[in-house]
Amino acid sequence: VSSKILIAGGTVVNADHQEVADVYVEDGVIVDVRPNIKVSDGVRIVDATGKFVMPGGIDPHTHLAMEFMGTETIDNFFSGQAAALAGGTTMHIDFVIPVNGSLSKGYEAYVEKAKLSCMDYGFHMAITKWDDTVSNEMEIMVKEKGINSFKFFMAYKGSLMISDELLLEGLKQCKSLGALAMVHAENGDAVFEGQKRMIELGITGPEGHALSRPPVLEGEATARAIRLAAFVNTPLYVVHVMSIDAMEEIARARKSGQKVIGEPVVSGLVLDDSVLWDPDFITAAKQVTIFVFVMSPPIRASGHGKALQAALSTGILKLVGTDHCTFNSTQKSFGIDDFRKIPNGVNGLEERMHLVWDTMVESGQLSVTDFVRVTSTECAKLFNIYPRKGAIRAGSDADIIIFNPNSTFHISASSHHSKSDTNVYEGRHGKGKVEVTIAGGKIVWENEELKVVPGSGKYISMPPFNYLYNGIDKADENYLTSLKAPVNRIKPSL
Ligand code: URP
Ligand code: ZN
Ligand code: ZN
Ligand code: ZN
Repeated sequence: VSSKILIAGGTVVNADHQEVADVYVEDGVIVDVRPNIKVSDGVRIVDATGKFVMPGGIDPHTHLAMEFMGTETIDNFFSGQAAALAGGTTMHIDFVIPVNGSLSKGYEAYVEKAKLSCMDYGFHMAITKWDDTVSNEMEIMVKEKGINSFKFFMAYKGSLMISDELLLEGLKQCKSLGALAMVHAENGDAVFEGQKRMIELGITGPEGHALSRPPVLEGEATARAIRLAAFVNTPLYVVHVMSIDAMEEIARARKSGQKVIGEPVVSGLVLDDSVLWDPDFITAAKQVTIFVFVMSPPIRASGHGKALQAALSTGILKLVGTDHCTFNSTQKSFGIDDFRKIPNGVNGLEERMHLVWDTMVESGQLSVTDFVRVTSTECAKLFNIYPRKGAIRAGSDADIIIFNPNSTFHISASSHHSKSDTNVYEGRHGKGKVEVTIAGGKIVWENEELKVVPGSGKYISMPPFNYLYNGIDKADENYLTSLKAPVNRIKPSL
């Protein structure tokens, strides 16, 4: 396999610009981007005439080899990443789950899991309990382990859920470390109550999942997290925004100047809950087909997805993830008698690029450069690894896709690369196709064939933030100064 590649004659697309140019790659790095590059013999030439040459996708939200709800996701770091590469995604950021609350033990466990990697990856880390050890370990993760983001679960009462007190401590520690706080925003206490109510009513099927955690609970938790972040004066990232309710809270906060980043996921953009209410499906024999749709927050009624698409196209929402968290039908059927036992999660790593293109670009809601921004560049910038990632330019890693806008994609569990025996997007097809994926300077996907090697992926260390915190120190200082100067301290009239 040649380590020298010339991608010739394509339209090179970055988040801010597109032009016809060649791209020359050597030893895993982009060396040159300009028209008419001349190369010597021995260089592999890939013709990209009439096609788009874009940065490989970066998925900000995945769960590979995660132990969750009494089982483990069916995709590990190899199968999940192989699927990603076949769909044009060349990097992902996975959530490390602490082991008994220990961040370092969780980190070590994920280092082991990730040894199977065939593409580059980074880590976020979940925070599930609070004490001085956790607080100190957060500092070690940021300063020594290359983790710059922490996720707080406001749902999953009894396992991952945290209190407002912990969230506040976590937000403060994130701020002091220059790390980004992320929230899973659903009111876990109310969800717990809603679940009990469904079971009492005898609603044990998957529709009980959706009914027990309606949009209003996502809106409430999103609003609460946003206000607590405002109280601490620190940025906030809301993962898997699934409803109008949550999106509108983010829109309002952003309008007032608060740094809140909203991440829609593919399932929330393109699916709706109609399958739950389809009489053909509400038979015992077909229940497991519906279980595949169970994730949290739930896939919403039609209308939410369209609103989230509009918010993505106008910049209220910033970058698209998947929340790829797959279980096969045997695992999903653990909840056959009780929806509370259906492992939560859907696929998407392989489908994200195609579905975002088809839904957003083909419909005219995003330009081609915007497509690159929401699938790659924004994530690289946000997590502080740009322009090493998220750009086609000299010096960047050679993570590149060749995309044919005139071809078509088809999604089916019979042809996908995930280990799951189901696909939540089964039967979908549309315009556009990732024809070639280059990861780390090697052609790993070509002619519908994967050439991947476990262990070839690199860990991408993500340093703490600079620009995200611009102005925040100053605002804090002004506030404290105003408190210290008694002459300015005016008693508020109520
Ligand atoms: O249902 C979901 N989303 N499963 C993955 C865990 C999470 O909450 O992100
Ligand atoms: Zn979540
Ligand atoms: Zn998730
Ligand atoms: Zn088809």
